[in-house]
Amino acid sequence: MDYTNMTYDEACHYAPMEEPARQYFFMEYCKALLDKLKKAVGKDTLTFHIATFGCQMNSRDSEKLQGILESIGYVETDSEEADFVLYNTCTVRENANQRVYGRLGQLNNLKRKNPHMMISLCGCMMQEEEVVAKIRKSYRFVDIIFGTHNIFKLAELMAERLERDKMVVDIWEGTDTIVEDLPTDRKYPFKSGVNIMFGCNNFCSYCIVPYVRGRERSRSPKDIVAEIKKLADDGVVEIMLLGQNVNSYGKNLEEPVSFAQLLTQVDQIEGLERVRFMTSHPKDLSDELIEAMKHSSKVCRHIHLPLQSGSSNVLKAMNRSYTKEQYLELVDKIRAAMPDISLTTDIIVGFPGETEEDFLETLEVVKKVRFDSAFTFIYSKRTGTPAAKMECQISDEAVKNRFDRLLTEVQKISSEMCGRDEHTVQKVLVEEINDHAEGLLTGRLGNNTTVHFKGDSSLIGKIVNVYLDESKGFYYMGTLRP
Ligand code: 5AD
Ligand code: SF4
Repeated sequence: MDYTNMTYDEACHYAPMEEPARQYFFMEYCKALLDKLKKAVGKDTLTFHIATFGCQMNSRDSEKLQGILESIGYVETDSEEADFVLYNTCTVRENANQRVYGRLGQLNNLKRKNPHMMISLCGCMMQEEEVVAKIRKSYRFVDIIFGTHNIFKLAELMAERLERDKMVVDIWEGTDTIVEDLPTDRKYPFKSGVNIMFGCNNFCSYCIVPYVRGRERSRSPKDIVAEIKKLADDGVVEIMLLGQNVNSYGKNLEEPVSFAQLLTQVDQIEGLERVRFMTSHPKDLSDELIEAMKHSSKVCRHIHLPLQSGSSNVLKAMNRSYTKEQYLELVDKIRAAMPDISLTTDIIVGFPGETEEDFLETLEVVKKVRFDSAFTFIYSKRTGTPAAKMECQISDEAVKNRFDRLLTEVQKISSEMCGRDEHTVQKVLVEEINDHAEGLLTGRLGNNTTVHFKGDSSLIGKIVNVYLDESKGFYYMGTLRP
């Protein structure tokens, strides 16, 4: 088909209705339009830059967006002085939003120097009505806005923007659609995230995710296994199964499948050496999953198990559906089955109504469980969530004080826990050249701790034996072993 002289309306007329064929059509169409643009501005190549904020879900989405941009003919650049700049945003805490507004101001200056530059915003923050209204009003230089449910449509939205001289905004409130088989470009050739489900049904009272990522939708095990087999054939040795709550995977499929059953299927894929998953809600972590992990040689001995608070009262107000005692029992059960397991967590300090006693219970759980590492957050009020309307919001001063005490404890324990494999030989996936010291490589143990050791870049992507000479608190220095 000759796309060169086609208008956007004609393109919409000729484009297939089914996905992903429709998007492949628009990728070709955009390519033709951009070839014209290149000639007009006298450039051989057009560049793109994606800035990703937030969690692994967003990182994986960005790889898909990158795949689409490369198919259209853009070339990646490290700098925001690019022809297409995309911010994939996060809104889980308020300060993430503020950062985006700050950076947008700087992008506007770049756009003044390069008027054909396109600026696009997507991700969780765009699912909030007030955000889009603010951008429409005060950041009119933005070209394309889309949300979390329609990232697959980037080429179609860009086609519209290239033909029409106004901001294109396309936000979906929710979706049942999962579009498979679009191009992706992985950040690492040897490891990859794999979405197994989207959205969240848990409605923890502080959390905005269910509102911006929609209800839980699981991909079929057939599609997941096919994707992983393809990745393994392509040289990927480690995958991370991604979902907001992987333990409720498959419950709503026509033929329900448990997460443990999926894990067992994935475990059998040839060529794959390591399987990770993220995130597990403590209320749903089943005995079946513990058994499946225990009997697998590929599933890494690491569980990220967000605690959020150690006080049963606060957990109730957070709508977490477990008590402090149940959390501790679960940890005991996991450790009894896999004594070498590494446990990491997320903790929020300063949830509305949290008393000093509640906070001391959190500290107590931290001391009992001895997490390998913990992400600690100050509670951030998110408009639209039930917690935002709760009384007894805690003063900044008290929160800061608790946060500092928690961080000190978490770091002390984490450096002691990290050292427990000192003077042993461990399997390490070599990930990259260490930028800070010449001749050093950086890799990861199965439990996710990093290790630096001397070696040649040809080892990147391979699993090697490394002797852990010395623990440095949260990483090791090691020596390559045959
Ligand atoms: N304030 C602070 N932290 C939050 N998280 C989610 N929502 C909020 C909020 N409103 C944290 C939780 C979650 C992690 C991804 O972010 O600890 O597990
Ligand atoms: Fe947010 Fe809770 Fe869902 Fe995690 S499980 S994404 S904290 S609502």
